[in-house]
Amino acid sequence: MQKQVLSLLKQTDGYLSGEEISRQLGVSRAAVWKAVKALREKGYGIDSVTNRGYCLSSQPDLLDATAIQSGLSTHFLGRNIVVLEETDSTNEEAKRQGAAGAPDGTLCLAERQTGGKGRLGRSWSSPPGAGVWMSLLLRPQLAPQEATLLTLIAGLSVCRAIRRLTGCGAMIKWPNDIVIGRKKVCGILTELAADMEQIHYVVVGIGVNANLSEFEGELKKKATSLLLETGEKIDRAALIRAVLEEFEACYDRFVTDLTADFITPYEELCVSLNRQVSVIRGGREITGQSIGLSKEGELLIQTDGGIVEIGSGEVTVQGIY
Ligand code: BTN
Repeated sequence: MQKQVLSLLKQTDGYLSGEEISRQLGVSRAAVWKAVKALREKGYGIDSVTNRGYCLSSQPDLLDATAIQSGLSTHFLGRNIVVLEETDSTNEEAKRQGAAGAPDGTLCLAERQTGGKGRLGRSWSSPPGAGVWMSLLLRPQLAPQEATLLTLIAGLSVCRAIRRLTGCGAMIKWPNDIVIGRKKVCGILTELAADMEQIHYVVVGIGVNANLSEFEGELKKKATSLLLETGEKIDRAALIRAVLEEFEACYDRFVTDLTADFITPYEELCVSLNRQVSVIRGGREITGQSIGLSKEGELLIQTDGGIVEIGSGEVTVQGIY
C-alpha cells in the first residue's frame, strides 16, 4: 500500500486528495492515511493541506525497499528486497538468503558492509550511507560454466545504467570493472553455489561508489565516485532501479537464448580492447594486443605466438590502467 501511495504522489505535480488516492487504489481513506503516516515515519516529507490533499515534498536519502520498488518496471528482479543497516557483506547475506530458499531475483542491500569483498581475495571499502552495495540472488537454469557470462551481463548493465542516469562516459574494463576516465567507479563480484551439473544459485555483487566524497590512501589515485564526476548527489534508489531494469532485460534475453548477442554491445563499451595489454597467467606475463572477446566472453589477445584466450584475471591496459 505504501508503495502504491508513494508512486501516486511521485507522479503528481502538486497535491492529490486523499479521496482521489483511495478511489484510484480502491481502498479506504483510513488505509491511505495509515500509509501516509508510515511513509512519514520513514522520512518522506508529505505535506497535507485541508481540501487539497497530500503533496510529496522530500524523500529520505536512505535505502528503502518501498522507494526502490515504486516505479520499478522489472517483473522478477528486486521484487523481494532485503535492506540492512549493516552487514558483513551483501554477497554473504545473499548466500544466506539463497540457502534459506529466498526467491529468484532477491536483492540484498546494506548501508554499510563491515567485510565488503572484492575480487581476487581483496577487500572492498564500503563506508555507510553513500554507496550502493548490492547483491542479486539468481537461480538460472544454466550449466555452471555458462554462469561466467553473467558477470559480463552485470558489467554491461551497470555501465548502461550509469550512462543513462548521469550522462557520464562510463566504460567497462574487462571483465567487469566500470571506469570513468582512468578511475574505477564500480566493481562486481560474482559467486556461485553449484555442483558439477547444476547451479543452485548465483550471487552477483555490485559495488558502486555513488555519493562518496573522498577516498583514502591508495584509492585516491584509482577510485572515483559519481558524485565526484558529476558534482551532484545521485538518487541511489533511481540508480538501483536502473541497474535492475538494465540487468533484467539483458539477463532474460540470455537465459532464453544462450546465443543472444550481448558481446557486441559489451565490446562497444569496453575500454580494454584494441590496446596493448598484459595479464599474469600461471605465474607468466602475457602481453599483446587485445583484439576482441570470444562468444564465451574471454579476452582475445594477439601475441607473437598467436591468439591467447584469457578467461579471468587482472588485465593491465598499458598506458591507462
Ligand atoms: C572488485 O572490483 O574487486 C569487486 C568488488 C565488489 C564489491 C561489491 S559491494 C556489494 C557486494 N558485496 C561484497 O562484499 N562485494 C560486492
